[in-house]
Amino acid sequence: MSTRIYFTGYGEPTVLQVGPEELAPPGPGQVRVQFRAVGVNPADWRLVTGVLKDSMPLEFPAVPGSEAAGVVTEVGPAFEGFSVGDEVIWNGLPGAYRTEAVLSADQLTPVPVGVSLEQAACIPVAGGAAFSALKQLAVGPDDVVLIHAAAGGVGSAAVQIAQAFGAGVIGTASEDNQDYLRELGAFPVTYGPGLAERIRAAAQDAGPVTAVLDAVGTEESVAATVGLLSDRSRAVTTVPGTRSEEAGIASVQLQEGRIWEAATLAAEGLLTFTISGRFPLIEAADALEASRTGHVRGKIVLFP
Ligand SMILES: NC(=O)c1ccc[n+]([C@@H]2O[C@H](COP(=O)([O-])OP(=O)(O)OC[C@H]3O[C@@H](n4cnc5c(N)ncnc54)[C@H](OP(=O)(O)O)[C@@H]3O)[C@@H](O)[C@H]2O)c1
Repeated sequence: MSTRIYFTGYGEPTVLQVGPEELAPPGPGQVRVQFRAVGVNPADWRLVTGVLKDSMPLEFPAVPGSEAAGVVTEVGPAFEGFSVGDEVIWNGLPGAYRTEAVLSADQLTPVPVGVSLEQAACIPVAGGAAFSALKQLAVGPDDVVLIHAAAGGVGSAAVQIAQAFGAGVIGTASEDNQDYLRELGAFPVTYGPGLAERIRAAAQDAGPVTAVLDAVGTEESVAATVGLLSDRSRAVTTVPGTRSEEAGIASVQLQEGRIWEAATLAAEGLLTFTISGRFPLIEAADALEASRTGHVRGKIVLFP
């Protein structure tokens, strides 16, 4: 018997309930996976509170979460893609907040040797978006990338991946995260009034900004991007909306193979997620509240 975290209507994270779930045996092309770690993303609390109800309508009861890592415990008939005992990463439509799931094998990525399941669970959404955005920008050794919200899941992955691509990085964060960004290898800048001037000052050491990844999408971050970057085609946001659209900043286009590529960087020691919150799965409501603060460093992980 599997256990799931579900909700029957939108509301505060306390609407989440815990309940048992009977799983059907895996069919052709499917495997049963025991989740060992589940990644938490801002989209999860937005899903539960109804912020996404127009863009992602749900059938209730619904299960939040779109990324997890675990172990294959059963494979469907005549299936050779994965074997019992394989470690896999899952990324898909909502439903990761459970102990086990029967999943389509085409939504799975093998966990490379040397990557823990905790790290693997963090890769799909934040790592996948960061990797995709930097590929979209064709970031390389001649670049200095400005990363807005560089201490979060997407931002901290992007700081590391940009450096893996040979680029220099200027990152924005609160005062509390300046040392953290420095440890990641970025030139840190605090956001807030005077942001563009502080970025220009950092560029004296880092070099002029040639590309921007915006992982926060505030009026301030968009204005700084517009002020600093003459070639707007070299800006991408993971927070699409009118503000970025009007400024000519493209939305991230998720790239095929991004999870495997990001996982490979993790296996090479070039991408490590800082885990700032670990919660038992049954305390998912607390994890969503922590995510909702908007000040997560790295990632939050749930443990089934
Ligand atoms: N389209 C996609 O596929 C995709 C994929 C992943 C994420 N996203 C979106 O991208 C955004 C970032 O996601 P995430 O997972 O990185 O979120 P997160 O882990 O919750 O990180 C949020 C970060 O934002 C920083 N921050 C808060 N206010 C800020 C401000 N005014 N200026 C600059 N930074 C600020 C915080 O740093 P401090 O604590 O230092 O303030 C925190 O580290 C979310 O909106 C998410 O939904 C989209």
